[in-house]
Amino acid sequence: MSSTSTRVTGGVEDRATYALSNGSDHATDRLVALDHFLDPVTTSVLDRLRVQPGDRCLEIGPGSGSIAWDLAGRVGPTGEVVAVDLDPSRLTPAGNLHIYRHDIRDGLPVGGPYNVIHARLVLVHLPERRQVLRMLADALAPGGWLVIGDFGDTTMPVYTSPSASDTDLYTRVVQGVQRVLEGHGVDMAWADDTHAAMRDAGLRNVDVVEHAESWTGGSTGIRMHQANTRQTQDELLQHGITAADLDRFRELMEHPDFAARSYRFVCTRGQRPPL
Ligand SMILES: C[S@@+](CC[C@H](N)C(=O)[O-])C[C@H]1O[C@@H](n2cnc3c(N)ncnc32)[C@H](O)[C@@H]1O
Repeated sequence: MSSTSTRVTGGVEDRATYALSNGSDHATDRLVALDHFLDPVTTSVLDRLRVQPGDRCLEIGPGSGSIAWDLAGRVGPTGEVVAVDLDPSRLTPAGNLHIYRHDIRDGLPVGGPYNVIHARLVLVHLPERRQVLRMLADALAPGGWLVIGDFGDTTMPVYTSPSASDTDLYTRVVQGVQRVLEGHGVDMAWADDTHAAMRDAGLRNVDVVEHAESWTGGSTGIRMHQANTRQTQDELLQHGITAADLDRFRELMEHPDFAARSYRFVCTRGQRPPL
């Protein structure tokens, strides 16, 4: 069975709108960079969960679908993966992978229980993140795991730069992107609150893995900055960043003498107590 729910938000116009739509031409660069940066971390966390053939999994906001496909391979033909995204156009349903176009704030398109629920870089965008987390925790089977990964920092140290003014420019632009995203509901403090939120939702064996790395000009990871500044360009220009700033920023992101720390990725897992 392959499925597409066309229900989107049910007329809730005052909700925060997602700023980085998958429908944009720039989304491909961002999703490639995300998979390159984060899939090794996420899959190593999933390895520790001992996902079994026949398990049911829920993937929230799959983006390119790399983790949805990974889970589909782990659970095999006797299991299933339900993938839910506002815009799932980059995934093709097949076999045990079922895809729903759906806003997770409207509830689950397919009820639980699930053995594994995963959401990467989704809850950070949603002001309703605590209610969503509680809903996801309630949809776990006894012994099932919730895995939530988000970026958790507002500081992005520069390691090397062609000049002091380039360092300042980088900091201003990256902070400008963060301000734009905050205007759409993003909370970068949330990642460090996820552990406590999982405990409050009744989960146990909660633990956290963090990952950060250096991004050098021209590398795959740093293209995330290129994609995000292009996709938020109109709003950045209203936040004191000029077109000339953006031109130099884009040169800098390709410059071999520039290197900065990546976003700090915080991946938290928690388990519903077994019966
Ligand atoms: C930053 S991307 C991350 C994609 C993927 N999880 C990854 O880490 O590479 C966020 C994804 O969540 C989806 N998304 C955002 N808000 C959503 C919502 N309210 N309900 C369902 N999906 C949502 C977006 O369409 C996008 O695919």
